Amino acid sequence: MLQNIEKILEEARQFNAETREEIEQFRIRYLGKKGVLADLFKNFKQVPAEQKKEVGQKINQLKQFISSRIEELILAASVEVTGKESTDLTLPGPPLQLGARHPISIVRNQIIDIFGRLGFTISEGPEIEDDWHVFSALNFPPEHPARDMQDTFFIEKDPDILLRTHTSSVQVRVMEKEKPPIRTISPGRVFRNEAISARAHCIFHQVEGLYIDENVSFADLKQILLYFTHEMFGKDVDIRLRPSYFPFTEPSAEMDINCQICGGKGCNVCKYSGWLEILGCGMVDPNVLEFTGIDSKKYTGYAFGMGIERVAMLKYQVRDLRLYFENDIRFLEQFQAAH
Ligand code: DAH
Repeated sequence: MLQNIEKILEEARQFNAETREEIEQFRIRYLGKKGVLADLFKNFKQVPAEQKKEVGQKINQLKQFISSRIEELILAASVEVTGKESTDLTLPGPPLQLGARHPISIVRNQIIDIFGRLGFTISEGPEIEDDWHVFSALNFPPEHPARDMQDTFFIEKDPDILLRTHTSSVQVRVMEKEKPPIRTISPGRVFRNEAISARAHCIFHQVEGLYIDENVSFADLKQILLYFTHEMFGKDVDIRLRPSYFPFTEPSAEMDINCQICGGKGCNVCKYSGWLEILGCGMVDPNVLEFTGIDSKKYTGYAFGMGIERVAMLKYQVRDLRLYFENDIRFLEQFQAAH
């Protein structure tokens, strides 16, 4: 049967037609009620179960090929005819190629979806920020290296204005504006003064998370991160929290998940540790609460921040960050949104 399909495909490839009648005959011969494809579908019942998948795919490919060949021929014929006769306005236009969503948008939407189910709202802030929202209100000491020109893009005329280096700036804006309970995530673009390579880029995307209420604990943070991981990567993925340091959280941690690329055995992506870092998190430092006008005696909160490219890299196993920014259609058309 497979050989037969190949033969039909070859015949169809060879076929050429000049006139509408010839094209119509071709259509009837292959796609008509008693045509070649109808025959194939009829015989499909007899194909042994283990070959059904392959044969089915091949028949569908053949059908698609013939349909698009017919469209091409009709188009070519109508172009030729236009000069001599009147144009047939009822003919379908040339097929348009459908676009696909960018993988970063797909992953961002999934993250929004997962946290949305848990009652997190979405908040946004400006990409061009000031020192207060990116650093000072987040408890960065004046001499912190992130404030260095080497890491941050500043506006030359006014060093108080800069491109945000993380979406943590949005949590400051939300805390200044809203009263607890606050439960929000902030997806957005961030900028760092990095040399572009497979592992680093000067533009990338983050999602910040923030929850502030009475009695929020580290256990709540851990639970939500575990839930997120299971929803995003699957139920059998483990997380690991390592103590870390951020000026705006105390205690702070970094979260790893077991490497999806090697299944935890060790590979060059996880540097043979079996684990990959995917986010930073911690309990909001009381200083940050006070800086933004929230009573740190009454309220506690947690925050976390993750890189969307990082999550996408693990989900799709794309190891070169630059691909996300080049907009090469051969890369982009491979991704399908689940919703
Ligand atoms: N802003 C940090 C970064 O860009 C990520 C981060 C770490 C955000 C800890 C947080 C947090 O909210 O609690 O690397």
